Amino acid sequence: MTPAEQSAAALKVCQLAPVVPVLVIDDLAHAAPLAKALVAGGLPALEVTLRTPVALDAIRAMADVEGGTVGAGTLLTPADVKAAKRAGATFGVSPGATDSLIKACEDEGLPLLPGAVTATEIMTLLERGYTVQKFFPAEQSGGAAFLKSIGSPIPQVKFCPTGGISLKNAPDYLSLKNILCVGGSWVAPKEAMATGDWAAITRLAAEARALR
Ligand code: 3PG
Repeated sequence: MTPAEQSAAALKVCQLAPVVPVLVIDDLAHAAPLAKALVAGGLPALEVTLRTPVALDAIRAMADVEGGTVGAGTLLTPADVKAAKRAGATFGVSPGATDSLIKACEDEGLPLLPGAVTATEIMTLLERGYTVQKFFPAEQSGGAAFLKSIGSPIPQVKFCPTGGISLKNAPDYLSLKNILCVGGSWVAPKEAMATGDWAAITRLAAEARALR
């Protein structure tokens, strides 16, 4: 997959909804009902972080949920990329971007949303052909004010910021021309998952969907 194809595919994912839920799944039994609850609320693009032992199996379980587009987050190594692809992930997200990680995604045909937070990192990815990037950790790296400023010299790069974003500050990001969507874990609180309160998660998803 070429960088242009990668960016086109990442763009499509980011255009599905204003918010991409960032999911940390501890219990495999939560995977399918969680995906169904989020899709029902209007959030089809789901990022399952590879931070728990069940993450890959969760991707497998969620890949079957109708209407969902399931990706793998926290990709750090080429091995992560291969495992995510094998589990059925249709896109990948990484906190930063290394040559080996990008190459693995291109070789495996897994569209990547690569992370960047400085002008040089953003330009380096752009030089390689990546026009859709993740901005992480967003709030800690200058937030919406930084993204607004970087949009003047580098308007051709569009972002999905994540990290510290909530229903309250999401509009600050979504009102900017260079923001496609935001990512966040607030739509899938641990307590709601633990108690199986899927209706509450659908409500949070619907609220997030209505942001745009
Ligand atoms: C992450 O990778 O943890 C995401 O950026 C989500 O951050 P949040 O929990 O602050 O929404």
